Amino acid sequence: MQYEVVLPAAGSGKRMGAGQNKLFLLLNEKPILIHTLEVFQHDEKCTGIWLAVKPEEREYIQGLLDRYRITKVKGLPTGGQERQHSVHSCIKEMKQVEIVLVHDAARPFITKPIIARLAEAAHEKGAAIAGVKAKDTMKKVSEGVIVETVDRESLWMIQTPQAFRFDLLQQAEDVAEKIGFLGTDEAMLVERLGHQVHIVESTYENVKMTTKEDLIFGEAILSKRCQ
Ligand code: C5P
Repeated sequence: MQYEVVLPAAGSGKRMGAGQNKLFLLLNEKPILIHTLEVFQHDEKCTGIWLAVKPEEREYIQGLLDRYRITKVKGLPTGGQERQHSVHSCIKEMKQVEIVLVHDAARPFITKPIIARLAEAAHEKGAAIAGVKAKDTMKKVSEGVIVETVDRESLWMIQTPQAFRFDLLQQAEDVAEKIGFLGTDEAMLVERLGHQVHIVESTYENVKMTTKEDLIFGEAILSKRCQ
């Protein structure tokens, strides 16, 4: 199933504490952003990439795209205050496509088989997101005290990509903007419309580069893959 992908890349990455956009940090001598872009550049089912960027970083990012020969980028719209705004600015510039994926630019270890399963599921069912089963015991806590031990069987840790029929995500984003609703992911906006969102089991390797420790995991994953 063919698709276009939206990669929000306009964050500040404060939790990384790098003093710059964390997507420019190197893993194996290549920016995190390029690792992510290369997955989609080399996926023949991906027909276009939309990158939400900060205006002051557009030129630098364009330079990276040229240097690493990333040719599928169709637009670099200006991102917003929150990740949801950044995604929406891409959706507003996109032409009608059948399937759109939204993927954090900070998750460089996503693989083509998972992307393919998400795009197929979105084609069949409208909305599908990547996730992994919770590994630890999960408890609900209030003011430092356990309130409840939650049944782990029903708990999933949600990642990206999140895949949708384009018109469904467009409607969900438009409605959220109109009523001023801010979700933590795209699925939340679609759930609000009363539409079912399906889960596709992903891998624990699909980590988001968020803090300095994640860079160590990242280097380890890359060296394992190079063996
Ligand atoms: O901060 P966090 O890692 O959770 O952000 C996830 C992704 O969303 C990152 O790739 C980041 O660049 C992007 N983002 C964005 N616009 C924002 C905030 C985050 O494009 N306002």
